[in-house]
Amino acid sequence: MEDLERDLLTFEGFYFHRKACDTGVLENLDDFELRDDDVFVVTYPKSGTIWAQQILSLIYFEEHRKRTENLESHHRVPFLEYCSRDIDFASRPSPRLFVTHLPYYLVPRGLKDKKAKIIYIYRNPKDVMCSYFHFLNTYPVYKAADTIDAFMKQFLEGKVVGNLWFDHIRGWYEHRNYFNIQFMMYEEMKKDLRSSVFKLCKFLGEDLSEETMDTVVRQATFENMKNDPLANNENALYWNFGPKLREGHFLRKGTIGDWKNQMTVEQNERFDKIFQKQMKDIPLQFIWDVNETWY
Ligand code: PPS
Repeated sequence: MEDLERDLLTFEGFYFHRKACDTGVLENLDDFELRDDDVFVVTYPKSGTIWAQQILSLIYFEEHRKRTENLESHHRVPFLEYCSRDIDFASRPSPRLFVTHLPYYLVPRGLKDKKAKIIYIYRNPKDVMCSYFHFLNTYPVYKAADTIDAFMKQFLEGKVVGNLWFDHIRGWYEHRNYFNIQFMMYEEMKKDLRSSVFKLCKFLGEDLSEETMDTVVRQATFENMKNDPLANNENALYWNFGPKLREGHFLRKGTIGDWKNQMTVEQNERFDKIFQKQMKDIPLQFIWDVNETWY
């Protein structure tokens, strides 16, 4: 816990990466001046943030699609709360694109008046937990438990950036009527990326040609992103947190159901009980297995 307190910053009960975050920025978030055409992607960590950064970069920037400009997607779609002290958001051209892990109660006030659009991407929390476990044991971001069992305890106590997964999704879901928000499922994106990009574009009011759509979908696949230094986040992690602790990649597996390879039957049953109790009145659909269908 001492290590965690050293590495994490608490603001209004929410954990942030201390190294990449500025209390001054957090204190001013409520007053952050919005534009009607701002777009925010909201995620709990490990739910497809970089994927959304890449998809939005491809939708909005021809230079990104054509690779004529050497700018990483996380610069095109920056975090609202991280490393933002050096970015002058006010002078960025519209539409401004952001990602954030913030809970519903910490976002700029204007969002609650349905100014700007929000895309909330969620992923089944067992895969989130496993992705998080490997991420924190690969990158020197903050100290995480080094067994999945111990990490499950940390995750289910919400002692991670993003706090408790259940609180994050519940908060956003229960307050959805205050926001102009579209919920998207990581697993749905994985199973049918083209339809997901289409759904996203419809919500954003972007009309892509077939050819552009093909390019967006092709360049946003896991395999392409993993090999693309403008999309795979490796440089940003190096510059922010230093060398890796061990071999591994930020784009690790990018799949559905890897939790089955990571969790024991007992851990899974324990997780299920908590999930059923916490989510019983949240009618969002979840996909736990790559072969599952959805409606
Ligand atoms: S972070 O640290 O919160 O910004 O992480 P985040 O980007 O939200 O999540 C990382 C996981 O998303 C996977 N990912 C993808 N999956 C499928 N397709 C594409 N294109 C894709 N891009 C990123 C990434 O691999 C991490 O999941 P795991 O399970 O660890 O592979």
